[in-house]
Amino acid sequence: MYKILSKEVLSDVVKLMDIEAPHVARKAAAGQFVIVRIDEFGERIPLTIADYSREKGTITIIFQELGKSTMQLGKLNPGDSLASFAGPLGHPTEIENFGTVVCMGGGVGIAPIYPIARALKEAGNKVISIIGARTKELLFWEEKMRVVSDELIICTDDGSIGRKSLVTEPLKEILDNKNNTIAKVWAIGPAIMMKFVTLTTKPYNVPTIVSLNTIMIDGTGMCGGCRVLLEDGAQFVCVDGPEFNGHKVDWDNLLSRLSFYKNEEKQAVEHYEHTCRIDGAIVKGRE
Ligand SMILES: Cc1cc2nc3c(=O)[nH]c(=O)nc-3n(C[C@H](O)[C@H](O)[C@H](O)COP(=O)(O)OP(=O)(O)OC[C@H]3O[C@@H](n4cnc5c(N)ncnc54)[C@H](O)[C@@H]3O)c2cc1C
Ligand code: FES
Repeated sequence: MYKILSKEVLSDVVKLMDIEAPHVARKAAAGQFVIVRIDEFGERIPLTIADYSREKGTITIIFQELGKSTMQLGKLNPGDSLASFAGPLGHPTEIENFGTVVCMGGGVGIAPIYPIARALKEAGNKVISIIGARTKELLFWEEKMRVVSDELIICTDDGSIGRKSLVTEPLKEILDNKNNTIAKVWAIGPAIMMKFVTLTTKPYNVPTIVSLNTIMIDGTGMCGGCRVLLEDGAQFVCVDGPEFNGHKVDWDNLLSRLSFYKNEEKQAVEHYEHTCRIDGAIVKGRE
């Protein structure tokens, strides 16, 4: 069992947890992920390693409550345990001194971009970070990102903090600036954001790495659930990724696969919320 040591509410729908998992912490690297199961009947939830401490033997996860499983996870508290915590999975981010790089995090994607920005900074790169969210309440880790960045640009859709724009707008300005030579861009966030980041960098020929969050089932390369179409053929996100050359991804195929189980997911949430209400009413009746 994997104990939850601490919990932080970063926004209405985003929560952070430190999990005791020394064997994962020993080997964890930026860019990798874990697959979590709440209990023996639970769905497998892939989550990026947002941070780790080898000394304390802990892994930090940050997750957005989207559907049934992440909502259930969000209800757990320090002292509770998770049934399984498999990892580290996937290939670590390739870290070198590339020169000037741009790290982009959208929404909950700010969590996985943080250890990458930190590792790139430690490797001697000049790091320009752009983080964005729909609104101020959904933005987190601004100060942590500032510490690992030479320059930090904040964007919100509604302008409630930082600049009122999508993250691709400052990216384009940076690419247009003749004083900048951008060696590489990393983008993590909703698939639609990553798609538009790659469309922005493509005309400038700047290599762009994205971390794909496809639907996963077994996480072993056997089920095909996480298959993604690239220019040079299909790959599996769990074993070949999660990072890929964004210019090679067939985004339309990925976006349509992500919405494949929308109806089933909606039904699972409705059933879960209904059961919660009944359980709540029973508990209340006992008081
Ligand atoms: C390698 C990897 C790393 C990830 N890292 C993180 C992370 O650090 N933090 C985090 O919050 N999430 C992360 N995700 C996404 C996370 O796994 C899913 O959001 C979660 O499994 C949803 O489970 P659920 O049962 O709560 O929701 P579901 O009922 O499965 O889905 C609810 C809604 O979310 C959409 N959805 C489901 N799965 C995904 C997905 N993978 N990407 C985008 N939309 C999805 C569905 O279309 C649906 O509308 C990662 C996914 C992968 C593959
Ligand atoms: S999740 Fe099954 S092949 Fe990747």
